[in-house]
Amino acid sequence: MPEPDSIDSQRLAYDDVGRGQPILFIHGYPLSRALWQPQVQALSAYARAIAPDLPGFGQSAPVARKATIDAYADDCAYLLKILGIRQKVIVCGLSMGGYVAFAFYRRYPEMVGGLILASTRAGADSAEGKANRDKAIALAQKEGAQAIARAMLPKMLAPQSYSAKPGLAAAVRAMMVTASLEGITGALAAMRDRPDSTDMLATIHVPTLILHGEQDQIMPPSEAEAMRAAIPSSALTILPNAGHMPNMEQPDAFNRNIIEFINVQR
Ligand code: MLT
Repeated sequence: MPEPDSIDSQRLAYDDVGRGQPILFIHGYPLSRALWQPQVQALSAYARAIAPDLPGFGQSAPVARKATIDAYADDCAYLLKILGIRQKVIVCGLSMGGYVAFAFYRRYPEMVGGLILASTRAGADSAEGKANRDKAIALAQKEGAQAIARAMLPKMLAPQSYSAKPGLAAAVRAMMVTASLEGITGALAAMRDRPDSTDMLATIHVPTLILHGEQDQIMPPSEAEAMRAAIPSSALTILPNAGHMPNMEQPDAFNRNIIEFINVQR
């Protein structure tokens, strides 16, 4: 394993709760490990939940190095190393965290016992998508994290979640506005430049659980269906009444799926 800018990696803030099968929870953009609050405690009776803040997000300081999806995967691998974890881990990534999960599997297959891919997709950005990343970088540089939060918040949840669970939108916004400018612009460039993981899907030989909100306004459920069709040992659950953040919008159903997944591996 490459030794990343070790001092920076050791400054990652993380939660490490529970015992048993380790699950590495990787948050999406522009969020933080607070995303996984509904999982970390609830699953600690079944597993060891490890949830870092990626550099520049939550309580992790930005790093000087260029942000890439591979570098995020290296940071996660390094964290597992300094926690002394030798057992294979289940890697659970939501959205951008899913892109990191693909990179983690590509770079450290021997460390992975299973994958949970939530609200994510395998493909790279289209030309239009890349141009939108550049526009978002310019917006962040001009107007900061608040502007990014304003633009993204209306798409993060299922339409009915905003009225049914008013606290949720506030919690999502709080994560977004905590992100540093370096974290935001770094992640946007990292997502823009990430490789296409579509060809890799058929080579994934660990059990894979795909979870997706039925009303995801950012990634259509067809992305999840395409991954299900291409990954040999995979199962898909589409969660009703959930958008891009099914783990927060439908935590009981999300967690139940994870517990069943862990139990099948035993
Ligand atoms: C995320 O939720 O992590 C992002 O929306 C992913 C993306 O923009 O591709």
